[in-house]
Amino acid sequence: MQQLQLNILSNTPLQVGIYHLRLASADLRFLDLVEHIRAGQFVNVAIRGKYLRRPISISDVDSESLSLVYKVVGEGTALLSQMSEGDKLDVLMPLGNGFTLARSGSRPVLIGGGVGVPPLLLLARQLLQQGIKADIVLGFNTRHDIILYNDFLSLGCPTLISTVDGSYGQKGLVTDVLKAQGANSVNTFFYACGPKPMLRALKEQMTIEGEISLEERMGCGFGVCMGCTCQTLQGSKRICREGPVFKASDVIF
Ligand SMILES: Cc1cc2nc3c(=O)[nH]c(=O)nc-3n(C[C@H](O)[C@H](O)[C@H](O)COP(=O)(O)OP(=O)(O)OC[C@H]3O[C@@H](n4cnc5c(N)ncnc54)[C@H](O)[C@@H]3O)c2cc1C
Ligand code: FES
Repeated sequence: MQQLQLNILSNTPLQVGIYHLRLASADLRFLDLVEHIRAGQFVNVAIRGKYLRRPISISDVDSESLSLVYKVVGEGTALLSQMSEGDKLDVLMPLGNGFTLARSGSRPVLIGGGVGVPPLLLLARQLLQQGIKADIVLGFNTRHDIILYNDFLSLGCPTLISTVDGSYGQKGLVTDVLKAQGANSVNTFFYACGPKPMLRALKEQMTIEGEISLEERMGCGFGVCMGCTCQTLQGSKRICREGPVFKASDVIF
């Protein structure tokens, strides 16, 4: 883990209240770290005037920058959305473990809900680099919440969208789409990130093995405050350190 001062290259809205933040630095430590980011890892961002950092998943990387996609839900993310090109951001990175690419099998399915979708973009890209094209199922409340759809399509991944209000794609939840697609017989493994009720429903419905990325409010973000624990079959675990990615079968909701 490194503490780095990163330059904001851009901070632009993807939808109302949802922003794409691109960060870069000429610092050799940053360039070395971005090469080794694992999909599912996150950064912890310092925000002026806020005591606690805010954790955000890494949604994509290239050789010289990394991307975050975040939703404005409170004061911290609102302040972040007001920052612009040329501003500097104090970031701890990379944090947490990542998804295990080696478990994917030949046809994994990536399942995202709302602002749980971003880390799956990097996962889809890293799977492709290993010659594995994933199926993608993304769920949103309405068409106004849809993010990164074109990014998954441009990777060439078959991508299905569900919206709760039916304003785009299949009306309903990701679990409805997965049932209709016969994911338990077609797919070899699942990776998921999204709201807790979605993850709980997936754990009940999916008979294939999978990994899920959990969220909790965080204090330190690197394992010392014990503020982010979850229950697993192996006992209590810190989401920031042993997670945020866990075997779906291990998590006790
Ligand atoms: C590992 C990890 C990765 C994350 N990745 C992303 C991401 O890629 N994109 C994104 O938009 N958000 C992500 N989050 C959630 C993000 O950290 C919170 O939305 C953010 O910290 C809220 O800060 P705030 O000051 O704006 O809101 P606050 O004023 O702190 O809280 C406002 C509202 O947000 C809710 N909230 C606060 N923290 C969390 C949290 N950790 N999880 C869920 N709800 C929270 C509160 O319950 C409250 O309703 C992630 C969280 C974790 C733990
Ligand atoms: S946030 Fe401090 S231990 Fe996880």
